[in-house]
Amino acid sequence: MTPVNTVSEILWPPKFLEAMRSAQHWVVFTGAGVSAESGIPTFRDALTGLWSNFDPEDLATTEAFLRDPDLVWGWYEWRRAKVLEVAPNPAHQAIAELARHVPRLTLITQNVDDLHERAGSPSVLHLHGSLHHPRCMRCAKALDPPQPLDTSQGEQLLAPPVCVDCGGLIRPGVVWFGEMLPEQALTQAFEAAAQCDLLLSVGTSGVVYPAAQIPQLAARSGAWVIHINPQNLALGSEREFQLTGAAGAILPLLVQQVLAD
Ligand code: OAD
Repeated sequence: MTPVNTVSEILWPPKFLEAMRSAQHWVVFTGAGVSAESGIPTFRDALTGLWSNFDPEDLATTEAFLRDPDLVWGWYEWRRAKVLEVAPNPAHQAIAELARHVPRLTLITQNVDDLHERAGSPSVLHLHGSLHHPRCMRCAKALDPPQPLDTSQGEQLLAPPVCVDCGGLIRPGVVWFGEMLPEQALTQAFEAAAQCDLLLSVGTSGVVYPAAQIPQLAARSGAWVIHINPQNLALGSEREFQLTGAAGAILPLLVQQVLAD
């Protein structure tokens, strides 16, 4: 199918409508694009993406944290405070709504912002951790996040707290490059992808593995895969479609289609 260009042009393929209405198990797999319309930058969009403006080698590895804990902790605390200043958008809300109407829905996210939970999604598999769950680097004790910093000053150096139990440094609760993904969440995500009838892949460039395997696994297992993204993506199989546009515009329309009889 040729991708559509604007939301008003969506011609829902009859086969796909039928697949949506009959699917018993949905998987929704999200990336940074689902939060873009809330005002949270993605990673790889030119100019605005975080990795266009910051070097992940300085900020998103264990080595970076050990080399300069104040730089890394301050950057993640700045990101957490920015997230707390914004609200879930219609894409997050549509996903939460969808879960209330389809027989079963597994929500898997690469995002660390918790906007799905704030939109009312009850259960979210977090593959890359969360900005809101810092923990001790040495003993893994969880810590309530501190008072959010004032973002009007931009990013700033900030010393990480120290664990009251063991004296270790508190680190952000996100997965860094070179680290393993949380085993239980990854296993559940792979199982859901292999068993689902239909997978929506929303706002992800699909370049970071192992998460990027999830839509591929669903397609290989015979599920329909629908990508929602403003950029044209390379589609791998006959069972994959793309709805081209912003998630906040397309997902509410998709939910309407599911609910229409
Ligand atoms: P990317 O920045 O790689 O990709 C974001 C995708 O969202 C792109 O394909 C955009 O075209 C799309 N997009 C932008 N605006 C959108 C909108 N309004 N609606 C729908 N889509 C939109 O972000 P991710 O794929 O999430 O890892 O990146 C994967 C991982 O790389 C992240 O989880 C992070 C990063 O390094 C960790 O933090 C471990």
